[in-house]
Amino acid sequence: MNTASAINAIKWSDNALHLLDQRLLPEKEVYLSLKTSTEVTEAIRDMVVRGAPAIGITAAYGVVLAAKNRWQESQSNWKLNIEPDLDELSNSRPTAINLNWAIAQMRSLISECDENPVEKLLMLARQIHAADIAANRHMGDLGAALIEKSSGVLTHCNTGSLATGGYGTALGVIRSAYEGNRLSHIFADETRPWLQGARLTAWELAKENIPVQLIVEGAAASLMRQGKISWVIVGADRIAGNGDVANKIGTYGLAALARYHGLKFMVVAPTSTVDLSTHSGDNIPIEVRDAKEILSVMGQAIAPQTVGAWNPVFDVTPAELIDAIVTEKGVVMAPNEQKMSALMQEG
Ligand code: MRU
Repeated sequence: MNTASAINAIKWSDNALHLLDQRLLPEKEVYLSLKTSTEVTEAIRDMVVRGAPAIGITAAYGVVLAAKNRWQESQSNWKLNIEPDLDELSNSRPTAINLNWAIAQMRSLISECDENPVEKLLMLARQIHAADIAANRHMGDLGAALIEKSSGVLTHCNTGSLATGGYGTALGVIRSAYEGNRLSHIFADETRPWLQGARLTAWELAKENIPVQLIVEGAAASLMRQGKISWVIVGADRIAGNGDVANKIGTYGLAALARYHGLKFMVVAPTSTVDLSTHSGDNIPIEVRDAKEILSVMGQAIAPQTVGAWNPVFDVTPAELIDAIVTEKGVVMAPNEQKMSALMQEG
């Protein structure tokens, strides 16, 4: 039985967006209610919600709030007045391309609206949300089919219901493979500094009684050397035209380690994460966050607060280290520019 839908981190009701505050998990389950697009921008920037597809969906609902408020303010000038709100949302986080993808969809509908736009925009935001869940389910099946029975897998960061519309990308594949009795072991690394693996992935899997063992990032090489896994499965924040993948910092290291140990490396992401206009990984903007995230854990200092810290939160895995990119349009083995462009031309 699948209980993944029990986690619903993004909800729309009573003219407001309700977000499960991921900063407080696993300790507390608290929803924040947002009524303006500026509140949505702040929620994305401050990691109330995170994960590329979830950020895109949240931004789409943020556009609905912006339209509602701008229409109320001025029915003649709302299309002009909403532009700064869209820009503010677009700039809330730089690496996840799903954010710009979702805003581009909403912007295109705005250009066609003459009457009160709220219902139409809300319908599109709901469609983007539902389509993401459907894509995840399909990718779950496609990715699971690549995994041989009795395999051990390692995942990084959080790519589950919390990071998407629901179900998950890499974690969706792991859910599907687990349901299909293909997995002997699931390992999740804690994912310093924000602990998405320890706080969020472990929370999601524990909630559904799917057994998982946490490791510290430094244990990944030993795990691989001891033959405990055969696949590393991760999500993506942006996939460049040549198949290079930006994802949570540490992903590149895992891919290099996997290749060294003769293991397979799978990236799972909807095509809304593929950005053919970014030619290679070198062109992907990498977000660098506050040093405080490294110097403290959950508000508790763990290093002298006077030292410096470098905190890039994503890295780029070159296409040559990737065995499979799984999307809702199909699977690309050994990705390259030609295969990525053929994938994106699929209907
Ligand atoms: O900084 P985050 O938590 O937003 O980073 C999330 C990731 O890197 C995920 O792996 C990625 O967005 C894919 S989520 C389905």
